[in-house]
Amino acid sequence: MTQISHDNSSIPVLTIDGPSGAGKGAVSARVAESLGWHLLDSGAIYRAVALAVLDEGIDAGDGAAIVGLCADLDLDFAAGEDGISVLLGGQPVDRRLRAEDVSAMASRVAALPAVRQALLDLQRRFRRGPGLVADGRDMGTVVFADAPCKVFLQASVEERAKRRYKQLKQKGESVKFLRLFRDLEERDRRDRERAVSPTVPADDAEVIDSTSLGLDEVVERVLEHVRQRLGREKS
Ligand code: DC
Repeated sequence: MTQISHDNSSIPVLTIDGPSGAGKGAVSARVAESLGWHLLDSGAIYRAVALAVLDEGIDAGDGAAIVGLCADLDLDFAAGEDGISVLLGGQPVDRRLRAEDVSAMASRVAALPAVRQALLDLQRRFRRGPGLVADGRDMGTVVFADAPCKVFLQASVEERAKRRYKQLKQKGESVKFLRLFRDLEERDRRDRERAVSPTVPADDAEVIDSTSLGLDEVVERVLEHVRQRLGREKS
């Protein structure tokens, strides 16, 4: 009888980790498009869990209930007008995923080790040919620790706060720069120092500082990293 192998470890993965606001989302989308690879926005998974927790009125401290919810999560990604759209229970939830209460709940559920464990398989199922670009915090250290290509994208807190400030202003939201700066600093510290899957570069990651680089330059550096690690010449 022919054995069908479900081993996907030979499929190349590029992990892009780093703190909030370092440009991971934009860089990952551009790089995935250029390579023709799939894209995993792992932050959207934590946000979708957070949204479901809020919608179902589950207590943020009830780890067992949240783990149960992860097992039944009806989550899908579909190509939409503005890139990839997240579907929860078949409905697009992109706008709600970015809401302040969802962001705050996402960072709480993401700190629960049992929740992180429950989401491992779901994330690993995105590893499909010809390759995957995985964006998050622990893609290179935990979820795809065997990935051949790993980048850690960072930028100074000031630059990241400036970028976020500009984004929010463009959306017509009223924000205070100092408040944003302090919130970002606080979240960075929590992410770096948390016991499970802290936001740190993998030992074999290339660290790219985007503080004084434009998006095109970062994308080119990341593509160069992939070529080098996969032993491919520039075409
Ligand atoms: O990248 P983001 O802002 O969409 O992430 C939402 C939250 O999920 C944020 O608090 C960090 C957390 N997260 C995580 O802990 N691990 C990941 N791989 C991705 C996101």
